[in-house]
Amino acid sequence: MHFQKLPYNERAARANRVVEDATNRAVRGVDKVLGQMHLGGRAAEYDDEHYEFLGGPSDSMRRKHYDRSLHLLWKAEQMLPWSTFHDATDDERALMEMAEKAMRDDEKVQRDRITSAEFRALLNREYTPDQKRAIVAILSAIGHGEAYAWLVSASMLPEVKSTGAKAAVTMQVMEEAKHFVVLRELVQAFEVEVPRLQVWEYLILESSLKARGLDRFFGMNVLIETIALSIFGLLADKPGLEVLRLFHLDESRHTALPYNYTKEFPLTRWDRRNPVRRLRRLQMVLPALPFVMRMEPELCELGIEPFDFAGSVMRKVMTLADRAGFDLPTSSASLARFFNEVFNGYCRATRDGHVWKDFMRAETTNGVETSAVEREIFGAAS
Ligand SMILES: [Fe+2]
Ligand SMILES: [Fe+2]
Repeated sequence: MHFQKLPYNERAARANRVVEDATNRAVRGVDKVLGQMHLGGRAAEYDDEHYEFLGGPSDSMRRKHYDRSLHLLWKAEQMLPWSTFHDATDDERALMEMAEKAMRDDEKVQRDRITSAEFRALLNREYTPDQKRAIVAILSAIGHGEAYAWLVSASMLPEVKSTGAKAAVTMQVMEEAKHFVVLRELVQAFEVEVPRLQVWEYLILESSLKARGLDRFFGMNVLIETIALSIFGLLADKPGLEVLRLFHLDESRHTALPYNYTKEFPLTRWDRRNPVRRLRRLQMVLPALPFVMRMEPELCELGIEPFDFAGSVMRKVMTLADRAGFDLPTSSASLARFFNEVFNGYCRATRDGHVWKDFMRAETTNGVETSAVEREIFGAAS
């Protein structure tokens, strides 16, 4: 390549370099001192000398979360052709058309693009009005949670160290945005009134958004995402709700984020063991108990034992909390015993002839694919 060089004043260039160098030292020096005194300083945790965020590249985290998220990226237009989304690329649309052309006529009938009216008709055919209200109550609880997941994950972006972790959190922000807008349309397709946020869930979500530092990972990625993942696992095999399998896959990746992060950047001993932080974590968890009790009629309407669901969620939460080092006021084993006693006590008080049951060993995720995903995340716990 040939460039026609232009002349410039060498002395002026040298002077500009000297001035920039001196100003650089002064500005960064002042920022460094202010930072050490906790009076401000440089806002960005960015290391421009190494072209990296503070904490280094964290390539393994980037691969596990950013690369994998893009690899598994799904589009609402492909999965919910009846929705208002037009997010597929021209190539993806061409591929969908080619796949349709290659199908036999009987296959086409099954795969034909269903319109919004047809989807609503399918829901009316498959579910009674009470069942529709129950599904909407459960799904909208997660829908409201997705709004908070979007906010909490965005607030984590300046909080996490390293390029790989920031890339991972960025993908979570994008996926939560998608979850919120897509789930909202799916819930609205049921055409029943969408309930407000229940106060127990309000308390969990608000305390997660207000939590300090990495404890937001505990509130959101460990607790709320496990509840969401379990609900998606519960409903993904029901007619018209097949897309929830993809939500389940995304959420499973999100629940693994705190563990993958704390492997590289462990919580300090103080953050881990500090009695106030441990108590605050328990405070985030406790409203989940009345939440499940309040959801009992809706879960029962769909044939789901509420405390099997609650036990399965709490077991997974304890596993993830232990793994990432989010200590609670007592050991996870004694908390599990406590939850089991609360569930059984409630059942004894409200049901005739209740026989003690180990709800903490229950499993309510039933699809083949969703179960396989959870086995990978929770290992022996699932
Ligand atoms: Fe989500
Ligand atoms: Fe999530």
